[in-house]
Amino acid sequence: MPALVLLGAQWGDEGKGKATDLLGGSVDYVVRYQGGNNAGHTVVVGDQKYALHLLPSGILSPGCTPVIGNGVVVDPSVLLSELSGLNERGVDTSKLLISGNAHVITPYNVTVDKVTERFLGKRKIGTTGRGIGPTYADKINRVGIRVQDLYDESILTQKVEAALDAKNQILTKLYNRRAIAAGQVVEELLGYAEQIRPYVADTVLVLNQALEENKVVLFEGGQGTLLDIDHGTYPFVTSSNPTAGGACTGAGVGPTKISRVIGILKAYTTRVGAGPFPTELFDEDGDALRRIGGERGVTTGRDRRCGWFDAVIARYATRVNGLTDFFLTKLDVLTGWEQIPVCVAYEIDGERVEELPYSQSDFHHAKPVYEMLPGWSEDISKAKSFSDLPKNAQAYVKALEEMSGAPISAIGVGPGRDETIEINSFL
Ligand code: GDP
Ligand code: IMO
Ligand code: MG
Repeated sequence: MPALVLLGAQWGDEGKGKATDLLGGSVDYVVRYQGGNNAGHTVVVGDQKYALHLLPSGILSPGCTPVIGNGVVVDPSVLLSELSGLNERGVDTSKLLISGNAHVITPYNVTVDKVTERFLGKRKIGTTGRGIGPTYADKINRVGIRVQDLYDESILTQKVEAALDAKNQILTKLYNRRAIAAGQVVEELLGYAEQIRPYVADTVLVLNQALEENKVVLFEGGQGTLLDIDHGTYPFVTSSNPTAGGACTGAGVGPTKISRVIGILKAYTTRVGAGPFPTELFDEDGDALRRIGGERGVTTGRDRRCGWFDAVIARYATRVNGLTDFFLTKLDVLTGWEQIPVCVAYEIDGERVEELPYSQSDFHHAKPVYEMLPGWSEDISKAKSFSDLPKNAQAYVKALEEMSGAPISAIGVGPGRDETIEINSFL
C-alpha cells in the first residue's frame, strides 16, 4: 500500500486530523497537497489537544516526515508561529519538508480576501479570511509568489511589484483602501526567508524516491469534497482541489501510485460559511448536534451549520474520489435520539432525484427526502468493536454504508485516538 489519500467526504471538519493521526504511526510521510491555513485539524493525544492549520497532522507522529506539497498555499508567519507553538509543547518539527514550488500567501492576498468579502455583502462566500482564494487566483494568473522566490531578492521584488501594480489600482479605486507598498511586503517576506530555508526541498523528488523504496505516503486533504473548486457547490467552495485528483497535482505523484482513497464521513452533516445545504436544521435538533458535537470552527471560531446525514452527497463523494473505504466519525454524537432521519434522495420541483444534481439552481431547490432509522440511548464511547455497539447503532452504520457506496472500515466514537472501532483493518 505505497500511497493513500485521506480526504473529507462532505463540507470539511469531518475529523480528518484524528484519522490522519491514527494512521500516522504506520506511515512514513504525511503530505498536505492543497489548501492552507484555512484548515483546522484537531488531534487529541491523551489529555493534549492540538489544532493544526497548515502543518500535516502527521507532525505529531515521531516516525513520520511531514510534507507541505507544491499545491499548498503557505502563509509564512502562520507557518512559523505554528512551528514554534508545537516546539514549545515539546513536538519535534525538524523533519518538516516544504516544496519550493508552493505559493506564498502575502499580506496583500489576505487584504484582498477580506475586502472582496466585505464588498460582496449579502452575497459573500463566508471565507476564512486567510487569503486563500486571492493567492490561488495569483497562481493561476501567473503573478504568484513561490517559496523559492524568497531566496532571490531581485526576483521577489519584481514579482511583488508586478502583482501589486494591478492590485493597488483595485484597492484604491474600487475598494477605497490605501495602496500597499511593495518594498514593505518584500521586507516582511525576506524576514521569514532564513527561518524557513532549512525546510525547503524538492518534495516531488523526495516523495517519488520514497515510493520507489516502498515507503508509505499518506496524503492528507484539507476541506472536503463539496468544497472542491471543480466538484463542490461552486461558488460556495474553497479555491483548490481537495478531491483525490488534487493529491496527484498537489504533490507531483502519479495516480498509478495511489492504491487507497479513504473518505472521512461524519455521521451527520456540518458546513461553515455560506452556500446550499439541503439537510440543514434550524430547530433544536440542529442546536443539539452543534452542542453535543462541539461544532464550532477550529480556525475562525464560527458556529458550524448542522444537519442530518445526507447519503446523496456521500454517494457523490464515493464517485468523484473513487473512494475505497470510509472512516465514519462522531457516531457517539447521535446517541440519545429516538429516531434519526437520514436523507436518501432529494425532491426537486416535485420530482425525486437520487443523485447530486449538476445544476446549481436545482441543488439550491433540493429538499431532503428522509428515511427514519431507529436510534439508541446507550453510551457507545467505550465501544471497542462493532459488536459492542447497540443493535440500532450497528444498523445505522450498515444503512449508511449501503447508501454511500463504499465499505466503512472504522468508526469514531469519541475524539481520542483510542475512541475508534476498527472494522476492516483500517490501520
Ligand atoms: P477536520 O478539519 O476534518 O480535521 O475536523 P475538525 O478537527 O475541524 O473537527 C472535528 C472535531 O470532532 C474535532 O474537535 C475532533 O476532535 C472531533 N472528533 C473527531 N472524531 C470524533 C468522534 O468520533 N467523536 C467525537 N465526539 N468527536 C470527534
Ligand atoms: P478543514 O480542513 C470547513 C470554507 C469556508 C468558506 C469556504 C471558502 O478544517 O475541514 P476559504 O477561506 O477556503 O476561501 O473559504 O470554505 N472552508 C472550510 N470549511 N472546514 C475547512 O477546513 C474549511 N476551509 C475552508 O468556511 O465557506
Ligand atoms: Mg476542520
